[in-house]
Amino acid sequence: MDRRGFLQQGAGAVAGVALSGLVAVPARALPAIESGPFAPDAVLNQTYPFTLPPLPYAANAVEPAVDAQTMGIHHDRHHAAYVTNLNNALASQSALHQYTLGELLMGLRRWPAAVQTAIRNNGGGHANHALFWNLLAPGAASAAAPTGRLAEMITRDFESVAALKAAMKTAAVGQFGSGWAWLVKTATNRLAVRGLPNQDSPLLEGELPIVGIDVWEHAYYLRYQNRRADYVDALLARINWDVAGAQVG
Ligand SMILES: [Fe+2]
Repeated sequence: MDRRGFLQQGAGAVAGVALSGLVAVPARALPAIESGPFAPDAVLNQTYPFTLPPLPYAANAVEPAVDAQTMGIHHDRHHAAYVTNLNNALASQSALHQYTLGELLMGLRRWPAAVQTAIRNNGGGHANHALFWNLLAPGAASAAAPTGRLAEMITRDFESVAALKAAMKTAAVGQFGSGWAWLVKTATNRLAVRGLPNQDSPLLEGELPIVGIDVWEHAYYLRYQNRRADYVDALLARINWDVAGAQVG
């Protein structure tokens, strides 16, 4: 199944589900996403109980952009906590156990009010961080520049990679408090940069995350203290554009 089919089927499954036993939630049309499938091993395909994937490299693999201590704490404690808290919140919601993480985020407003915040914050945190680790290039595995379809879309929508990075940096540095800067693929098949608060996933609004820059202080404070702009520059130089390109489909 291609990504469009997956997402349309996923959205349809959410839209068409019999919500017996759940709090009645007004239906809303889920935006169609013109995009391919999530990668087969993507956390977005997980269902309850959710699990924390290991880092795809050693904790020091992205030095000096991200120091090993920050990487370890960030993954082993912060990301792990999102997974634990999501599982705890959904333990008694057996009707939701059939849905993937991607579906839970895309269909957020359909779920019982009592668990929407937990899905938004902890489900978002799980999805966002799982992508984030893979977007950081360990050493020589770094892809120097976008290629293929993603490169074409960047040229069309931003004119250049430099302009895209500048827009990402503006969003990342300007995000008030905790949040993320995102490169997303919109429902109309365009690339756009978003600054989103907390752990809000672009999927909440039907947009596909392509690149995410975590600007919570837990992501950078040990090495960079208040110099968020320096951290953002370092991260934008370590993006694995092959992984980013795979998100576009
Ligand atoms: Fe984080």
